[in-house]
Amino acid sequence: MPIMEPYRIKVVEPIPITTPEDRRRWLAATGYNQFSLRSEQVTIDLLTDSGTGALSAAQTAAAASADETYAGARSFYRFREVVSDLTGYQHILPVHQGRAAERILFGCVLRKGMISISNTHFDTTRANVELLGCVALDIPCEEAADLDSTEPFKGNIDLARLGQLLSGPERPRIGQVLMTITNNGGGGQPVSMANIEAASQLCREHGVPFFLDAARFAENAWWVTRREPGYADWTPRRVAQRAFALADGCVASLKKDGIVHMGGLVAVNDPELAEQCEMMCTATEGFRTYGGLAGRDLEMLAQGLIEVTDPQYLRARADATRYLGDLAKSAGVSIVEPAGIHAIYLNAKRLLPHLSAAQFPGHALACELYLQGGIRCVELGSLYLGTLDEQGRLQSGPPFELVRLAVPRRVYTQSHLEYVGEVLEEIAKQPERVPGYRMTHVPKLLRHFNCRLEQIRD
Ligand code: F0G
Repeated sequence: MPIMEPYRIKVVEPIPITTPEDRRRWLAATGYNQFSLRSEQVTIDLLTDSGTGALSAAQTAAAASADETYAGARSFYRFREVVSDLTGYQHILPVHQGRAAERILFGCVLRKGMISISNTHFDTTRANVELLGCVALDIPCEEAADLDSTEPFKGNIDLARLGQLLSGPERPRIGQVLMTITNNGGGGQPVSMANIEAASQLCREHGVPFFLDAARFAENAWWVTRREPGYADWTPRRVAQRAFALADGCVASLKKDGIVHMGGLVAVNDPELAEQCEMMCTATEGFRTYGGLAGRDLEMLAQGLIEVTDPQYLRARADATRYLGDLAKSAGVSIVEPAGIHAIYLNAKRLLPHLSAAQFPGHALACELYLQGGIRCVELGSLYLGTLDEQGRLQSGPPFELVRLAVPRRVYTQSHLEYVGEVLEEIAKQPERVPGYRMTHVPKLLRHFNCRLEQIRD
């Protein structure tokens, strides 16, 4: 079946068409750091799928009728009703985005020195664990290490390892197990229901809280209906409900599967934990019936959380991302297999073998996509994950050099994706011409946002 978006376009926004000279000048002026570009310098923005989706007519209508009361707004109760139906959790707190949810929940669950275990902590998630003086331990399944493997659920947690950890000497230090669905830090791969069930069971047996990082809960549910035996007849909503039911609560950035520009939530069943989270929320985010959001955000979220599990919407989104992956592969650029749903991850190491990890091949490919086509995206390789010395020289790098092309929800059409494919094809014709980079400014924290680089032109 061809990709056919199950919506038509009523409001449009022009995208900037730029020249190669402009782009060279602009990128050089940022120190080759795409986070410092202005949006009017970007033609196709694949930096993130977070907060970048297009609203539906029903969402904007809901926003117009929102209740902006400080306490007890009607819009909060609408939001709570929708989240409660979806998740089944007893206590639901809105917050302004995912990392606020993490700070609040982890602050109430973890004590200094504890361990948080995950299939993969997203970077802010890891930061919020570490800021509490705790250890964030990632135990992805073995298949995740093979970028070319087409195993269906490479986002799974390593159950054998989880079992060992929970019954081993470190058990008293384990404060929580957090399952990220889909596994953004691990190539955007989904987690199977069987894996969630087994992890949940292990946590219950050992008395350890089990939470979901549910930023892309609907996209994960879509893969379950398509790939996991026994779920072909289930709706994505029913799968999502079952996943939530297997956990003690969740944190979620609703900027993804809430299809809004801002929003998040913490939801738990334990009343004592809920009370602590509520106190933290009121002290640092906002009162429990708005949590840092406006009534209009809550209304748009309630509607977005209904729209996101529509099988037609999810099918079109999965098809579009797979199509982008196919375009990359036919251009000669390998991707992490199988293609994700919110993003594809390009294998820069394979495309640019003439660049060593110290020359940041992932970053080099990301820059080239901008220089050649005005496409913005982000590196997940030695620049972001490597260990560097104070001069910005690589000491040790991660095993992969990836570039993530994240697809905003309901924003780009098939012809935009074809344009990205054409730019990739141009680059892949002469990959040896892509220059490496060296770092000229090395910030101590959050390096990838603020570092500056220069091209190596020897
Ligand atoms: N968890 C996951 C799995 C995420 O992907 C993100 C954000 C967060 C938590 C944090 O949520 O941004 O609302 O505070 N991911 C974005 C991305 C930034 O580009 O993948 P937030």
